[in-house]
Amino acid sequence: MKIKDLRTAFVDRLQDHYPLEEVQSFFQITAHHFLGYSRMDIVLQLEEVVEEVKVQQFLTTCDRLKNHEPIQYILGDTEFYGLPFKVTPATLIPRPETEELVSWILEDLPKDTTLQLLDIGTGSGCIAISLAKHMEQTNVTAYDISEDAIKVASENAILNKVTVTFTSVDILKTTRLDQSYDCIVSNPPYVRELEKEEIQSNVLDHEPHSALFVSDTDPLVFYRAIGKLSYDNLSGNGRLFFEINQYLGKETVQLLKEIGFTQVELRQDIFGNDRMIKASR
Ligand SMILES: C[S@@+](CC[C@H](N)C(=O)[O-])C[C@H]1O[C@@H](n2cnc3c(N)ncnc32)[C@H](O)[C@@H]1O
Repeated sequence: MKIKDLRTAFVDRLQDHYPLEEVQSFFQITAHHFLGYSRMDIVLQLEEVVEEVKVQQFLTTCDRLKNHEPIQYILGDTEFYGLPFKVTPATLIPRPETEELVSWILEDLPKDTTLQLLDIGTGSGCIAISLAKHMEQTNVTAYDISEDAIKVASENAILNKVTVTFTSVDILKTTRLDQSYDCIVSNPPYVRELEKEEIQSNVLDHEPHSALFVSDTDPLVFYRAIGKLSYDNLSGNGRLFFEINQYLGKETVQLLKEIGFTQVELRQDIFGNDRMIKASR
């Protein structure tokens, strides 16, 4: 089958399930994954014949997309901060707003000294690995409660040729850290059960609930635990960075001030939602 016919078959199968623009984007991502072609390559190679085994891979992808499975899980990879990452249903799919948090940390931390950095709730390892890649002198440690996530994150460190020390830790059962850190960062679970209605079915049905949800009665449980541990274990000039629930910006700032942090800065993401916090003692 020629690429142009494969594209038509792909669009026909999915057009009743997604907006056309999204289907076109799925085709480009799939073509890049299976054929190594960019958007421009596709336009230039429309007459090229795709071998049957690859055609079947495209069509299987279509069938899984019809079930609203995220394309990143179907193909098993994604991109974060310009780097490749493997993802499985054990790991959250990294989000663009988390890239904004990584940018803030990179702008903020000094580049010319050896720092100790800890990422709590690392998932695919996207935050820890991007920071390790851009701050070669920094020693990066990363925790997650999920052994399966740690396995994927370790593979991602190898894929991106960086060294990160991954450890399986339940942060809610941790009373002290093993050393002091210059920077602690976390994007912990923060979506309240009451916000489930806002969440699309592809997220709700496929991404790990333990990575996303917290109870309505104590939605800041991770911020309190990580905030206290950080207050006790940050070095003199150390900083704590959080990605936060956009509806709980003020409450999270207040909590960190109550813990004892004196400088707490709240920032918005590109959509204008309260999304990130930096705190120092
Ligand atoms: C919102 S995800 C963030 C994943 C990744 N850092 C990212 O930004 O894409 C939260 C992560 O926290 C982990 N987690 C949940 N409960 C935890 C706990 N009690 N201790 C440590 N990690 C936990 C989850 O397994 C998940 O990987």
